[in-house]
Amino acid sequence: MTSTAPWWRSAVIYQVYIRSFADGNGDGVGDIAGIRSRLPYLKSLGIDAMWINPWYKSPMADHGYDVADFREIDPRFGTMAEAEALIEEAHQHGIRVIPDIVPNHVSDQHVWFQAALAAGQGSPERDRFVFREGRGAEGAEPPNNWQSCFGGPAWTRLPDGQWYLHLFAPEQPDLNWEHPEVRAEFEDILRFWFHRGVDGFRIDVAHGLVKHPELPDLPPRPDGGAVAAQGGLDHPHWDRDEVHEIFRAWRRVADEFPGNRKFVAEAWAPSPERLARYVREDGLHTAFNFDFLMTSWNAKDLREVIDSSLATLGAVGAPATWVLSNHDVTRHPSRFGRKVVKKWVANELYRPEGPLDFELGTRRARAAALLMLSLPGGAYVYQGEELGLPEVEDLPDEVLQDPCWERSGHTDRGRDGCRVPIPWSGQDAPFGFSPDGATGEPWLPQPALWKDHSVEAQTGDDASMLELYRRALHLRRDLPALGEGDMTWLDAPAGVLAFSREPGFVCVVNLSAEPYRLPEHSSVLLASEPVEDGLLSQDQAVWLAR
Ligand code: GLC
Repeated sequence: MTSTAPWWRSAVIYQVYIRSFADGNGDGVGDIAGIRSRLPYLKSLGIDAMWINPWYKSPMADHGYDVADFREIDPRFGTMAEAEALIEEAHQHGIRVIPDIVPNHVSDQHVWFQAALAAGQGSPERDRFVFREGRGAEGAEPPNNWQSCFGGPAWTRLPDGQWYLHLFAPEQPDLNWEHPEVRAEFEDILRFWFHRGVDGFRIDVAHGLVKHPELPDLPPRPDGGAVAAQGGLDHPHWDRDEVHEIFRAWRRVADEFPGNRKFVAEAWAPSPERLARYVREDGLHTAFNFDFLMTSWNAKDLREVIDSSLATLGAVGAPATWVLSNHDVTRHPSRFGRKVVKKWVANELYRPEGPLDFELGTRRARAAALLMLSLPGGAYVYQGEELGLPEVEDLPDEVLQDPCWERSGHTDRGRDGCRVPIPWSGQDAPFGFSPDGATGEPWLPQPALWKDHSVEAQTGDDASMLELYRRALHLRRDLPALGEGDMTWLDAPAGVLAFSREPGFVCVVNLSAEPYRLPEHSSVLLASEPVEDGLLSQDQAVWLAR
């Protein structure tokens, strides 16, 4: 493309869940050495950048989202020198690097929290967090009814009687973003990493930083169920208007550096309109489009979310992003291969239920990839998605590690099923995830069927998911019509999504039971399944040159 628009407006960003991507030192946990060894693979895939989940020093109560020191690499993942080498080598491969930053909370082992514990009630050290007296007789009840996203109350009581807030695990105390030191510290951390050459940050729980000053109770749920962390306007801890002021300051920090550094917000907003507020001109650059991710395989709903995303983001001058999977949600072939029993709502737990038709889920995932990668804007690919990995739903109870499992009293099996280490090669575990002679087992067991999903097994097989992604990503680079720009819906029956992009590109996805005759075209550029007699069958997608 000859466009001069900043790279992030149309980038495909690959998500590296570091502990499950590639294990360089053989301890069974992925690391920076592993990522470095797989840079040629990422380059050949055709992605523009990688987002790496937290690699900072951490006790790993939530796999690195409990950060003890933002200026150190966790020894399980490597060293600062290795991180710097990775950034440099990735750049040599033409791949930008976006680490994760976790501003809503720190680890309970972070020096600030340790100082707050030691300093006691009413101290300035406690002011950096959210400490409160309890309610009821002797303050034995939590200060309010907020719930942790991982289950149970969002408050933990200390032996001295005070309670502290944690929207996630008790090992992840929430910071007080009203405190100027908290703001200054994070701006300094951003600069620390920008100086080391990172190209941007993925901002964890960007919608949670600011809390209602009075910490009011959440109202009862309209369906009569227990109070949950549901979103909605004027929610006391999600998506509050004041959060944008923080990100405007972050934007100024990014703009101090050359080379188009960028932010992407993890913001589970209640609507596309609310999401667009994160990406106004002086705010963040992009945000994950979870409305798209939460939409089930249904033409009407997909079209609506595409239209509303493009309209609301376009109105504030931001590019759209498209995402189907990440390390927090059930992998999409395992979602699309099931009947939808419950609508997915932002900030509510969603675990698909009922019997799985994985073949159907895979067919839809192939079509979804062609849809996602041809929509205007940027896209995210979660490691293993390009291998068509299923959610691993039969992990034995005793290996589960996600805090959701314990905190929910063993009612929610959590997110481990989408985090199983990646299969690279070979017939048996660890399928090339760890090097030969490794001393450690992969930190989660890999299913035997991983052998058919490995990079090696799929490379060169035209019918494989990997080659579909590879071809789509390379075409996306070559075709001027793709990436940022406009799209126009074409007339098509209900159940068929058809749109054109200039110059000369058409995407058609058939979600209906009726075969659909392809519109006029000069060639089929790519098809999710072979096209027969010019007809597109159910759950099939094509890219056409007009
Ligand atoms: C985000 C992360 C998730 C983590 C949580 C708490 O939602 O994506 O993995 O558990 O924040 O940091």
